[in-house]
Amino acid sequence: MDVTSFSLILIIFLSLSSPCFAEIRFTEIRSDDRPIIPFDEFGFTNQGRLELNVSQISLSNPSPDLDRSKLGFFLCTRASWPQVLQQIEDAEINCALHSTLIKKVYIFDSLNTANSFDTLYLHKDADQYTLVFANCLPQMKVSMNVRSAMYNLDAKTNRRDYLSAGRTVLPTVYFLFSLTYFTLAAVWICVLYKKRLTVFGIHFFMLAVLVMKALNLLCEAEDKSYIKRTGSAHGWDVLFYIFSFLKGITLFTLIVLIGTGWSFLKPYLQDKEKRVLMIVIPLQVVANIAQVVIDETGPFGQDWVTWRQVFLLVDVVCCCAVLFPIVWSIKNLREAARTDGKAAVNLMKLTLFRQYYIVVICYIYFTRVVVYALETITSYRYLWTSVVAGELATLAFYVFTGYKFKPEAHNPYFVVGDEEEEAAAEALKLEDEFEL
Ligand SMILES: *[C@@H]1O[C@H](CO)[C@@H](O)[C@H](O)[C@H]1NC(C)=O
Repeated sequence: MDVTSFSLILIIFLSLSSPCFAEIRFTEIRSDDRPIIPFDEFGFTNQGRLELNVSQISLSNPSPDLDRSKLGFFLCTRASWPQVLQQIEDAEINCALHSTLIKKVYIFDSLNTANSFDTLYLHKDADQYTLVFANCLPQMKVSMNVRSAMYNLDAKTNRRDYLSAGRTVLPTVYFLFSLTYFTLAAVWICVLYKKRLTVFGIHFFMLAVLVMKALNLLCEAEDKSYIKRTGSAHGWDVLFYIFSFLKGITLFTLIVLIGTGWSFLKPYLQDKEKRVLMIVIPLQVVANIAQVVIDETGPFGQDWVTWRQVFLLVDVVCCCAVLFPIVWSIKNLREAARTDGKAAVNLMKLTLFRQYYIVVICYIYFTRVVVYALETITSYRYLWTSVVAGELATLAFYVFTGYKFKPEAHNPYFVVGDEEEEAAAEALKLEDEFEL
């Protein structure tokens, strides 16, 4: 598959993706005449609760004979929303609030003179719901401050769980993966110590990448577990963003450096290779800013779509950019094989770089496309499975990279028999003929 069609598929899949947030959220609505204002999405168990506190409600033309039953909050599943729209289109109903497919949370006709209300909605039907405000009065502008908190009660302990039904195991998942990476880092330190005579700079860089990944997962585990208990992140998100950022930059730099063969094939970088790094690193900064905005605004925030697109674009560019150095290396090795007469050595390097190229593509494809496809098709209760799939793929990629590029005491590049040399020359010749 070539790079363009790969990135096209990537973009299409990513635009279908659907994260699901759950935190206590404050939203200010100001002179808004949208007929439908979506707030947050949450996977409820049969012990679900929705706390809604709305204050400073003001309507643009509050006449006394106003039909306030056409203003209100309701919950609706993703599956039944198209049916509600169909009912409106067929003129069965003239407002989403009158549909039987939705769950009314608070209708404004019970709001007499006060300009605020608090309500606790008990939820019995387990499913994923979106909290929506409907305004079926034409030319009516609404202003209000909305605090919404959705949580499930733990059946045994009766404690609140602010993570959506499919995400409640995520703190444990992230913690276990973080332990795995700390173990890998320890193993890597042993390897570096044992093979200390053949260690290159890149191997210490690999250690840094492992440690960043482990710390990133640890902070994510703590962040999610804090949200689970309290409904807000309280500073852990800042640490998480910092390590996400460091992990992103070090990982992409590592892929580029390995791709160029830096430190184990050659001690310097060419200008065009440096240019790739100069593109990828600032783009990672942008990607991380976008990620912060995306996480903090929630899927229905006004900047969400824009920043999501920025993130996707930047991510696709980074993923494509890191492939170039590997392609250049493969091309250089092929040319070297023709000229310098060390066929066996060059064939070995070529095979290694080709494998690496394919593994990088698989890694990018899996963590970006397959994971999001999984997220879209799995039931809301099993959303964590796509996280596990993505983390397993990442783990496999780290292990492969470490194994293939580990420091070698007996570098196979330099111990080659005559027979092997001849066989390799033959293989390279065959390859050239195929190409012509
Ligand atoms: C919000 O409403 C709930 C339910 O009535 C109430 O228990 C809670 O104290 C309110 N919270 C705030 C911050 O007003």
